[in-house]
Amino acid sequence: MTSTRGEFSSRFGFIMAASGSAVGLGNIWGFPTQAAGNGGAAFLVVYLVLAFTLAYPALMAELIIGRHAHSNPVRALRTISPNPLLARLGAASGIAGLGIASLILSFYAIVAGWMIAFCLASLMDLFGAAELSAWLTSFGVVRNLLFTYLFIGLTAFIITGGVRGGIERWSARLMPVLILTLLILIAYVLTLEGATEGLKIYLLPDFSRSLSPDLILRALGAAFFSLSLGVGTMLVYGSYLSDEENLPLLGGVVTLVDIIIAVIAGFLILPAMYVALHSGVHIFNADGTLISEDTLIFTVLPELFATMRLAGVIVSITFFFLMSIAALTSSISMLEVSVAYATESRGVKRGRAALVIGCAVAAASTLIIFDFSNLFGLVITLTTRYGQPLLGFVFCLYAGWVWHRDGVLQELLKNNPEAEHGLFWRIWPWYVKFVCPVIILAIFAQAALG
Ligand code: PFF
Repeated sequence: MTSTRGEFSSRFGFIMAASGSAVGLGNIWGFPTQAAGNGGAAFLVVYLVLAFTLAYPALMAELIIGRHAHSNPVRALRTISPNPLLARLGAASGIAGLGIASLILSFYAIVAGWMIAFCLASLMDLFGAAELSAWLTSFGVVRNLLFTYLFIGLTAFIITGGVRGGIERWSARLMPVLILTLLILIAYVLTLEGATEGLKIYLLPDFSRSLSPDLILRALGAAFFSLSLGVGTMLVYGSYLSDEENLPLLGGVVTLVDIIIAVIAGFLILPAMYVALHSGVHIFNADGTLISEDTLIFTVLPELFATMRLAGVIVSITFFFLMSIAALTSSISMLEVSVAYATESRGVKRGRAALVIGCAVAAASTLIIFDFSNLFGLVITLTTRYGQPLLGFVFCLYAGWVWHRDGVLQELLKNNPEAEHGLFWRIWPWYVKFVCPVIILAIFAQAALG
């Protein structure tokens, strides 16, 4: 390990940072709305099965490679390669990972900027500054640019603090706040009229929908995005773990936290939609499906909050604050992938790397904002539907086929001499070698065929 590398100070610090990366807009916004529109609890069951049987093994591939190499994805994939050709291909995949993580950040920051703007807008309502509030909530280039830059600035600021002083410190502060805020909001919304109807939609399974191949593939894509897989974030966080830690256990905890928060978020979003329905807000599209995605968050929920008067302003501030925090603990992991590479492999100072890469990401966001209707959806599709599954596939190939089996076992034995006889070692190597690549390829084929 080089002396410039950081390391998480504790198991708790790692769990907060890695689950902070995993828990983001995907959990609180994406998962509940997808569940709502796709068979409720049936989607949940499919999601749970896929998360544990496929996303967890893929997460472990990244964590084990990262912890073994104690370096960024580019160098790590090179380190475990037995020959120069595979080393070069590995390094190229690592670079692709940096690029995709940065592109994800470029659209994620725009959405996160809206969250901050909506949070501030509600604060302005509280002080009676209606005009400012209206500006903050209306779609415009200046507002979008301003808040995107603010969000990227916050992300770069935290990353400049390093692994312990930045990532770990802020994740350990923000994650408990996030969980507490979520629980308070749920407790409040569940007391309102209409909430139980939303709960029913969420919890009563409609299995006719959950068995369609399209839905299964969609649930898998959601699980990969939610666990931040395929772009090297988990590999980098794994590289900051000490050799004393039990990797399968920590990976399991992170997976569990991610899933639990997604499921719990459903207890907020679905009931909130039906409370909105009771207050006269439209929550269905013309074809009878539930409104989802941006219309839900930025139209339905604000309309709902407006019907609650003063309480609504407070709930609104709290809700958008929650979303901003969730986004921030995820965005730092996206930026860290490239910063880790720049500092370790290119000898750039951390602060400078965060600044330069932050500016590059901001430039990409600017392009997206100026040509929003064409670029926003395109970048999301390219990065999350194609990039993540394809690179996740490469990570599994490197863990399962390229890296020598003994090397993997030695890594697992470091802190746990019994690992060789454990359940994980009996199942995981096969999974990551055969099952994960095949299924990921299936997702990719599906995405490619449209
Ligand atoms: N896991 C994050 C979410 O659910 O919102 C998104 C994400 C974070 C994707 C980090 C990719 C990544 F590298």
